[in-house]
Amino acid sequence: MLFNELYIFGAGGSGRELAWLAQKRFGRNVKLTFVVDKSDYLTPPVNGVEVKLFSELVPSELARFVVALGNPDDRQRIVSMFLDAGHQAVNLIHPRVEMSPLVHIGAGTVICANSVLTCNIAVGKHVQINIGCTINHDVTIGDFSTLSPAVNVAGNVRIGRRVFVGTNACFINGSADTPLVVGDDAVIAAGACVTHSVEANALVAGVPAVRKK
Ligand SMILES: CC(C)(COP(=O)(O)OP(=O)(O)OC[C@H]1O[C@@H](n2cnc3c(N)ncnc32)[C@H](O)[C@@H]1OP(=O)(O)O)[C@@H](O)C(=O)NCCC(=O)NCCS
Repeated sequence: MLFNELYIFGAGGSGRELAWLAQKRFGRNVKLTFVVDKSDYLTPPVNGVEVKLFSELVPSELARFVVALGNPDDRQRIVSMFLDAGHQAVNLIHPRVEMSPLVHIGAGTVICANSVLTCNIAVGKHVQINIGCTINHDVTIGDFSTLSPAVNVAGNVRIGRRVFVGTNACFINGSADTPLVVGDDAVIAAGACVTHSVEANALVAGVPAVRKK
């Protein structure tokens, strides 16, 4: 182990879930600390994990950070805050994630329990792949995107940066010749079945998914 302390930004629901993931992944070898950026958010320990202010942290070779915020813009902002202050990110991948060696994962990305990633997949930096997602061949996922629980991505799909995908959404109909492309900053509503490419910044919903905003 190259580090012995993990800072988890955010002590809400997502933070508590990532703490559980980190305990599964690292056992007692790594001390967990929740981090908040405003003194108003300071609380007594949450589920036994101390909560500290970001401004109190001292960057260390022995510490890493991960950001437990589902909103891609918020996650990007907080990641920049940590990196600018000299902290180092780490991947958090549950021991029960199944993936081939043909999956590339960027720094700071989180992959939760029971997700499966097959082959020829590139996942960017600081992506969140929540519990029970499946990602098939020839898929890319851009930096800071979020896949909520139980999202299914079929083969030949390109998901951009900061895309938010609601729970139980699926992506189909991409092909090797014509991949399905989801533009940067798009929002995919929970339960959507995305059958066509999605423009940047669009919100799509429904089965099949249609543009709402
Ligand atoms: C899409 C979402 C983010 C809402 O975004 P929003 O910008 O607040 O959008 P609105 O609520 O104004 O809805 C816009 C339109 O999309 C529709 N819509 C929103 N969510 C929808 C859904 N899941 N399925 C079908 N239609 C949906 C609304 O009815 C509305 O349609 P209308 O314009 O025809 O009336 C939210 O509904 C959603 O699906 N969130 C996912 C939550 C989730 O999975 N969280 C995981 C936590 S781990």
